[in-house]
Amino acid sequence: MEQRSQWGTRAGFILAAVGSAVGLGNIWRFPYVAYENGGGAFFIPYLFALLTAGIPILILEFTMGHKYRGSAPLSFFRLGGKKAEWLGWWAIFVSFVISTYYAVIIAWAMKYTIYSFDQAWGDDTAGFLFGTVLELGDVPGQAGGLVAGVAIPLLLVWVITLGILFAGVKKGIELANKIFIPTLVVIFLIVVIRAVTLDGALLGLDAFFKPNFEQLSNPKVWVAAYGHIFFSLSIAFAIMITYSSYLPKKSDITNNAFITGFANSAFELLAGIGVFSALGFMAASQGVAVSDVASAGVGLAFVVFPQIISEFPGMNGLFGVLFFLSLTLAGLTSLISICETYVAGFSEKFGITRNKAVAFGVGLAAVISFLFATNGGLYFLDVADYFINQFGIAAIGLIEVVAIAWFFKKLPELQDHANAVSDIRLGAWWQICLKFITPLVLGYMMFGLLKLNLLKQHTKNGEVIGNYEGYSDIFILNFGWMVAAGVIILGFIFTAMKWNKNTDVDAYQHADGE
Ligand code: ALA
Repeated sequence: MEQRSQWGTRAGFILAAVGSAVGLGNIWRFPYVAYENGGGAFFIPYLFALLTAGIPILILEFTMGHKYRGSAPLSFFRLGGKKAEWLGWWAIFVSFVISTYYAVIIAWAMKYTIYSFDQAWGDDTAGFLFGTVLELGDVPGQAGGLVAGVAIPLLLVWVITLGILFAGVKKGIELANKIFIPTLVVIFLIVVIRAVTLDGALLGLDAFFKPNFEQLSNPKVWVAAYGHIFFSLSIAFAIMITYSSYLPKKSDITNNAFITGFANSAFELLAGIGVFSALGFMAASQGVAVSDVASAGVGLAFVVFPQIISEFPGMNGLFGVLFFLSLTLAGLTSLISICETYVAGFSEKFGITRNKAVAFGVGLAAVISFLFATNGGLYFLDVADYFINQFGIAAIGLIEVVAIAWFFKKLPELQDHANAVSDIRLGAWWQICLKFITPLVLGYMMFGLLKLNLLKQHTKNGEVIGNYEGYSDIFILNFGWMVAAGVIILGFIFTAMKWNKNTDVDAYQHADGE
C-alpha cells in the first residue's frame, strides 16, 4: 500500500478547496442565475441556502473526510458500512460525468483566450461560436463527426490535468492551486476593476442589484438558490470529503469551511459585479436595456463577452485574454478536484497505485469527453448537465443529509469530532439545519423537479415546451434519465464489489502527530 497522501500546509488545503469551489459556476453561472431570480432580492434565498445548507454540508463533508480519512466511498463505508458506501460511489460517478463535459468548456475558454488577441470572432459572435468553433449540428442526439478545433484544446486540458494528478496531492494538486489561485485572483481583479470603470457600468449594476421582492414568493427562486449553492461550493460531489481526507490530524475544520464558503461567495459576487458592469457598458453603447443583452451560460461567456471585448474602448485584446484566462484557470482547479474523487476511490477500492488510478480513471473520462467535442456535443452537454445537476448533485445532497442525520444518526458524533479540533464550536444550529431545514427544502425541491420533468411542464417565454429545452423524448430518455439512473446503478455495482484486502477498511485513526 502507498502511504496516504497529505497536504503540506493549511494554506495549501484551503487554496485547493477554494480552487475547487471557484469554477465555471462562479463566473458565468452565478451572475445570470442571480439576475434571473430577482436580482438584488436573490441574495436573500442565496444567503439562506448558503447558511442553512452550503456551509453546514461543507462542515459535514470536511468532518467526514477528516474523521474517516478515505475517499467518499471509503468514508461512507466507515460511517455506515455497505448501506452507506453506495452514496460515495453515486457521488463519484456524478463527478465522473461532470468531468467529461466540464473539461470541454475549459477547452472552449482556452480557445477563446487565443481568439482574444485579434478578436477573431468578428461581428457575428453567435454565428462564430455555433458555426465556426463548435460546428454545431441541427439535430440534438446525433453526434456527427469530431470537431478538430475543439478536440485539440480538449486534449491539452487533459494533458495538463493528468500531469497535475500524476504529480500527487502535495506536489501536484497543492502546488497547482498555490500558483493558479493567486494568479486567478489578481487577473480577475484587473478584469473587474476595468469593467466597473466603463461607461454604463452603473446601468448594469443597477439591473443586477435592483431587488425584485415579488420574486421571493416564487419557489423557483429558492430552488435556483439551493441548486446553485451545491454546484458552486462543490458539495455532494464527493470532492470535499476526498480533499479533507488528506488533512493532518491537527486541522481546524469549521474555520476552514467558513473560509472556503465565504471566499467562494466573495468571488462569485465579484464576478456578478464584473459581468454586469460589462453588460451595462454594452447596453449603453448599443442604446438598449440590460435585459436585452443578459444571457445564460454558454451565451454569456462565449457570445456576449466576445461582443463586449470587441466594443472595448482600448486594449481589447488584453481584456479578452485576461477574462478567458480567468475562466480557464478557475475551471482547471475545479476539474482537478472533480477527477481526484475517482482517483482516490478507484485506488482504495481496488488496491491499485495512485498513478494507475489516474491513468485508468482520468484516461477513461478523457476518452468519453470527446463525445462533447463532436458536432452534436453542445446538445449532449446541455442535457447531461441539466440532469446530472438536478438528479445527481441536488438528489445526493438530499439523501446524504437524510441518511446521516436520520438513518445512521451520526450528527452528534460528527459534531463532537469537529468541535474537538476546531476553534469555532458547532452549536444546535448545525444539527437543526441538517436535520430539518435542508431536508425539507431539498425534498420539496426534488418533488417539484420530478413533477416538472415527468409531466413535461417546462416553459419558455411563458409557453409550455414540454421537455427541458423542448428536446425530444428519446433524447431526454437516452442522455438525461439514462445518465442520471446510470450513475446510481454504477454506484450499486461498485458497492457490491469487494474492497481490496490491502485496504484496511476498519482502521482510520490518525497516528499520533500525523
Ligand atoms: N464548484 C465548481 C464550479 O463552481 C464545480 O464550477
